[in-house]
Amino acid sequence: MRLPWVAATLGVLARSAAAIELDLNSEDSIKDAASTIAFGLVRYYTGNYTGDTPGNLPDPYFWWEAGAMFGALVDYWALTGDDSYNAITQQALTHQGTEKGDFMPTNQTRTLGNDDQGFWGMAAMSAAENNFPNPPPDQPQWLALAQSLFNQWASRWEEETCGGGLRWQIFTFNNGFNYKNSISNGCFFNIAARLARYTGNQTYADWATRIWNWEESIGLITPEYAVRDGIGIEPLTGECNGTKTMDFNQWTYNAGIFLHGAAVMYNLTNGSAEWRARVDGLLNTTTATFFTPHEDPSVGNIVMFEQLCEPSGFCNIDQRSFKGYLTRWLAGTATVAPHTVPLIRPLLEADARAAARACSGSVPEPEFKGHPGTACGFRWTTSAGFDGMVGVGEQMNALSAVMYTLAAKPGAPEPLTADTGGTSKGNYAAQGRTMETGIGYADITVRDRVAAGFLTSAIGLGVVAGCAFVMM
Ligand SMILES: *[C@@H]1O[C@H](CO)[C@@H](O)[C@H](O)[C@H]1NC(C)=O
Ligand SMILES: *[C@@H]1O[C@H](CO)[C@@H](O)[C@H](O)[C@H]1NC(C)=O
Ligand SMILES: *[C@@H]1O[C@H](CO)[C@@H](O)[C@H](O)[C@H]1NC(C)=O
Ligand SMILES: *[C@@H]1O[C@H](CO)[C@@H](O)[C@H](O)[C@H]1NC(C)=O
Ligand SMILES: *[C@@H]1O[C@H](CO)[C@@H](O)[C@H](O)[C@H]1NC(C)=O
Ligand SMILES: *[C@@H]1O[C@H](CO)[C@@H](O)[C@H](O)[C@H]1NC(C)=O
Ligand SMILES: *[C@@H]1O[C@H](CO)[C@@H](O)[C@H](O)[C@H]1NC(C)=O
Repeated sequence: MRLPWVAATLGVLARSAAAIELDLNSEDSIKDAASTIAFGLVRYYTGNYTGDTPGNLPDPYFWWEAGAMFGALVDYWALTGDDSYNAITQQALTHQGTEKGDFMPTNQTRTLGNDDQGFWGMAAMSAAENNFPNPPPDQPQWLALAQSLFNQWASRWEEETCGGGLRWQIFTFNNGFNYKNSISNGCFFNIAARLARYTGNQTYADWATRIWNWEESIGLITPEYAVRDGIGIEPLTGECNGTKTMDFNQWTYNAGIFLHGAAVMYNLTNGSAEWRARVDGLLNTTTATFFTPHEDPSVGNIVMFEQLCEPSGFCNIDQRSFKGYLTRWLAGTATVAPHTVPLIRPLLEADARAAARACSGSVPEPEFKGHPGTACGFRWTTSAGFDGMVGVGEQMNALSAVMYTLAAKPGAPEPLTADTGGTSKGNYAAQGRTMETGIGYADITVRDRVAAGFLTSAIGLGVVAGCAFVMM
């Protein structure tokens, strides 16, 4: 199994060459840069090879990150028109959507969390919103996949513990079952808001409001709009009482997922003051927390960084992909809440310039299989550019930084709805399998335990535990 520092060590030895050219005034330049970075990203994927499983990334990348990658590739096609990866994307989404249409593949149940499903679900939602080519009619459809997840999450909502909220894990036997976290509830919130917008069905909007209210009431979203990672259920009382069991850590993706969902709700309510205050508050906190000066001011005043682990260099594989999602959701926010464009656009432009500059690595295979001199590093803050860290996360972050500059501007296409040309077929009754009906977990291996424990320590308990794992 490859650990993060292996790639990092190799990378440091690697030569750094000219960065990817990027002229933000030229759409063609942006598309060319995005195409080069996307090529390097997709070269990590082997799921379409004979004998491999469509939708899976090889070790050390977990299932959810593949879902995130295909979400980025849906948007890549929508923004650039380049359909080079549509076939693998459609194949991956339908295969992992499974014949039941529930993003609950039996192979994943040993570590399946609500958030893992969520990243695949958000890819399906983007596919619906962009009229990504629909699958054959006998296969699960994009909108129905998102609705199935909504229904699954609504059925897992649990008032008995902590007055509501989704647990992180779905199955009792997985580490993290006693943890209610912002990313799981954020996935539910984000998809509920977008389903409300897409379908016009008020039930979805009501759920989005309910999820938001719970996050606030339990203190996971603070009055200052900090989004905490999660809270543990007290074993004796079943409560989430105060901050005793709270993980206070702030990650880019938690802020981003609520920001985008709140922006959709703001739009849906025709610009209500309530949702506007939430959008503006989250955006303000996001800017203050997750952006830092670039060493070279000509790149931009501030650029995004993963403040908890990036300065120390101890972000784990998962965490090394989070900045890409905040980037995606900042662009999504700008699209449905146009008053934020003047704030968001300069951030995205600075990130794009900084990320393109960081895409100058030449790293030997198998650590990177894209074009030499275009491997993207992790840090966007340094004058030096490429920092030697490579992987799916780094590549996906940089792709996002570059391509979403095509979205966050006046006149960019709006996400579709059922009323404005969206063609994906839905199914309000779509369900998921339950503990009893759908899982094969007899053969839990040591690797699975390590995987589940890894996620617990890395995301649940924060950087300290994550570092300990890296050291092991
Ligand atoms: C898998 O997909 C990639 C990207 O579209 C393509 O370049 C490659 O040839 C495909 N491989 C196989 C074995 O089909
Ligand atoms: C589950 O694993 C088997 C064996 O590797 C594979 O053939 C199948 O395609 C996988 N299913 C999914 C949905 O990933
Ligand atoms: C919450 O915790 C406080 C202090 O630990 C305790 O006094 C209080 O009774 C608890 N509340 C509930 C509802 O259990
Ligand atoms: C928003 O505006 C539309 C069109 O004017 C209207 O149909 C809808 O009821 C409004 N929604 C709210 C929540 O005010
Ligand atoms: C913006 O965020 C900063 C840092 O979190 C906070 O101090 C400030 O009060 C916020 N401003 C507004 C207008 O919310
Ligand atoms: C809602 O989003 C559309 C773009 O999708 C935009 O034209 C409209 O101004 C937004 N409404 C508000 C209140 O910002
Ligand atoms: C709205 O969505 C809910 C939740 O899925 C569903 O039960 C209901 O039938 C939908 N309403 C309409 C009018 O389609």
